[in-house]
Amino acid sequence: MRPEVRAEYERALGRIAGDTAFATRLERFFTELRNPLVAVYGADERFPAQWDALLAAVAEAAAARAPALRALDHEREITPDWLQREQAVGYVTYVDRFAGTLDGVRERLPYLRELGVGYLHLMPLLRARPQPNDGGYAVADYDAVEPALGTMDDLRVLAAELRAGGMALCVDVVLNHTAREHAWAQAALAGDERMLRFYRTFPDRSAPDAYEATLPDVFPDTAPGSFTWVPEVGRWVWTTFNPYQWDLDYSDPEVFVAMARVMLGLANAGVDVLRLDAVPFLWKRAGTDCQNEPEVHELLQAFRALVRIAAPAVALKAEAIVSPRDLVGYLGAGRHEGKECDLAYHNVLMVLLWSSLASGRVALMTHTLRAMPPVPPGAGWITYVRCHDDIGWAITEEDAGAVGLDGYLHRRFLADWYAGDFPGSFARGARFQPDPRTGEARTSGMAASLAGLEAARADGDEAAVELAIRRVLLLHAIAFAHGGLPLVYMGDELGLPNDPAWDADPAQRDDNRWIHRPHMDWEAAARRHDPNSVEGRLWEGLRRLVAARRATRAVHAQGRSEAVWTGNDHVFGLYREHAGERLLVLANFTAEPQPVRAAVAAERAVGPAEPEPAPDGRPLRAQGDFLVLAPYQHAWLRG
Ligand code: GLC
Repeated sequence: MRPEVRAEYERALGRIAGDTAFATRLERFFTELRNPLVAVYGADERFPAQWDALLAAVAEAAAARAPALRALDHEREITPDWLQREQAVGYVTYVDRFAGTLDGVRERLPYLRELGVGYLHLMPLLRARPQPNDGGYAVADYDAVEPALGTMDDLRVLAAELRAGGMALCVDVVLNHTAREHAWAQAALAGDERMLRFYRTFPDRSAPDAYEATLPDVFPDTAPGSFTWVPEVGRWVWTTFNPYQWDLDYSDPEVFVAMARVMLGLANAGVDVLRLDAVPFLWKRAGTDCQNEPEVHELLQAFRALVRIAAPAVALKAEAIVSPRDLVGYLGAGRHEGKECDLAYHNVLMVLLWSSLASGRVALMTHTLRAMPPVPPGAGWITYVRCHDDIGWAITEEDAGAVGLDGYLHRRFLADWYAGDFPGSFARGARFQPDPRTGEARTSGMAASLAGLEAARADGDEAAVELAIRRVLLLHAIAFAHGGLPLVYMGDELGLPNDPAWDADPAQRDDNRWIHRPHMDWEAAARRHDPNSVEGRLWEGLRRLVAARRATRAVHAQGRSEAVWTGNDHVFGLYREHAGERLLVLANFTAEPQPVRAAVAAERAVGPAEPEPAPDGRPLRAQGDFLVLAPYQHAWLRG
């Protein structure tokens, strides 16, 4: 270490004298924190002061950490795979839609425990601007909870109760942008030059026009373009998402430090996992699509290092909805290996699941997953079927072409299929943000509606209902077996359909993602113990999946994974290996019985033994040299 760097280190250490655990962590992560920041800000004259402020904030947060959280720090330092194990199953919900308030959530915890949930992601709950606020993703105050949901103290109490019951809490950190109502933006609007520099603003259209030439539109339909004219400051403000969401300027080191403080504050309130929203967008570079720039990975490494120093029990989850090639980097690739986010959404898998379900073919999924690099050391995927966002059909030309598909036509097919417009479609979804320039669209809709349950129930067609239930469970089975932490999206465990009243609120009318953000239906939940009800069949099916996961070490996030050609384009094969255990999952993506050569299993030395009870609920049939899967059946063969 150079003498001047050593002095910085000693100074940070001195701030929290006597805490040997902190001293060890500071030593271990000091350069992991410093190097990426020097790479990004080293030449900036504002950096030395901000670096000092950052080290002070880290030491202060570490010193203020409550005893129970320190104990957890220690526990997780010696159990670094706590989010990667077979026991981990998560649930995602809005506080208000699920239970009214944070206190209400506490009352509903028995429901989650019954399902086997050990990780709870509560959708944005910090104080947002008034509606519209992008479902809470336009934060006006990072230090306060949305008043209708409760207070910071309520959050602390909930976190403590979850902790006591072994359930981890995940909360969003919306770090790419603030609401224009946030104090920083308000100060900028009032003429504060320093605060104006927190955001990316431009006096005229020249730079914005140059950027726009290569920038895709996130909301082409409702918020075209990425810049908003703000007359109060006489400038164009960078607004990637909605005009009221102002992009922060991470080329200013003070912005980094301000957001670091936010993260440390949430960590000390007892939050276990920070969901870093929209991270690909943090850094902008002319001539690019301003996503996944190298600086983003430097910043994420630095965020992770500072959390590891001050609050090592806390993990970072990247929300990077990007193409297969860019995605793995968020879990730490190349020189960032083992140093970036602990978790990242496997949106590629999610898209491929729905693609396979619509087409009844698995070649694209098999090829795309095979072409992806393995999960980096120390990290794990978040696997999921649905979430609060639309499904963006992120299938590249290259991957589609490799299996004889035209990427553009396949993406259009998927948007048509899930909007229920394609002949024979079982889906009742909706097009989200159709892009008139390309003719493409994304898809909104609850899993049950996309999988045919809504239509089947409306028709009173029991056979179709059964198939739709099987489809929902099939997709979850892959998410549960894939490796990583599977998340169940609120309502999917009961087959809740699209919210018919989603557009009743004028503030939400132009954003049809509200179709799949219904209120929890506790009457439907009450039917979950009736084995003949739709709710009961889905609930039991999911509980079987939780049980199968728990009985299968091969689903560990760090296990070896391989998408397998089964020789039948309608049956997906997924092979897993971990800790001496082998697992082959076979999944039939059609409504007809499908054969697979028994040799596919025998070659991998897995046999017909499945975890008890059989995760699918139906035994796998053998016929001569073949295994025959029932419609939408999934089988877990172990060795
Ligand atoms: C993330 C959220 C999405 C939101 C966007 C902007 O992608 O999941 O709901 O609209 O960020 O904050």
